[in-house]
Amino acid sequence: MNLHQDTCMVLFDQETIAKRVAELGRQITRDYQGKNLLMICTLRGASVFFCDLIRHIDLPLKIDFIATSSYGCSTTTSGEVRMIKDTSESVKGKDVVIVEDIIDSGLTLSFLKKMFEAREAASVKVCTMLDKPEGRKVDFKGDYVGFEVPNAFVVGYGLDYAEKYRNLPDVCVLDPKIYS
Ligand code: PRP
Repeated sequence: MNLHQDTCMVLFDQETIAKRVAELGRQITRDYQGKNLLMICTLRGASVFFCDLIRHIDLPLKIDFIATSSYGCSTTTSGEVRMIKDTSESVKGKDVVIVEDIIDSGLTLSFLKKMFEAREAASVKVCTMLDKPEGRKVDFKGDYVGFEVPNAFVVGYGLDYAEKYRNLPDVCVLDPKIYS
């Protein structure tokens, strides 16, 4: 059974993604010279992007992981961000870059950014692979954005629907017949 059978369009193929990830890595390398860089991956969706991105950053850095959940098995946010796993080390005094797979409603990132600022990180920026501006419920802007996506349910390159499709190498639109 081929995972692509459940999708109706490839938005970004793996070559296009790889080029953009390398560009974002170069941009972060330029911006964080001499800083105390801590890259924080938001599990689970950003894991694929995160592993590719950090290998394009030519600087000393630390990594950490957090997990939140607001979608469960649904295609729309519950509106409530649940913290499932916190960072292993303190963010105090660090230049934090939160790495996300997608900004949709903006609820997860605005929650996380405020949380790390309250914990006295030296700076907090957000790097997201995908941005869906039409999905916003709160005003939020990513600092580093891979690609904008339309208001459709997208899967692949780490993004799931009901925990499936994360291993698709391309970012695809999920066929609505799968969830309707
Ligand atoms: C997804 C995604 C972001 C968040 C973005 O996480 O990885 O963290 O939703 O949506 P928002 O802007 O509407 O808050 P999800 O809760 O599905 O968990 P997952 O990363 O494990 O798939």
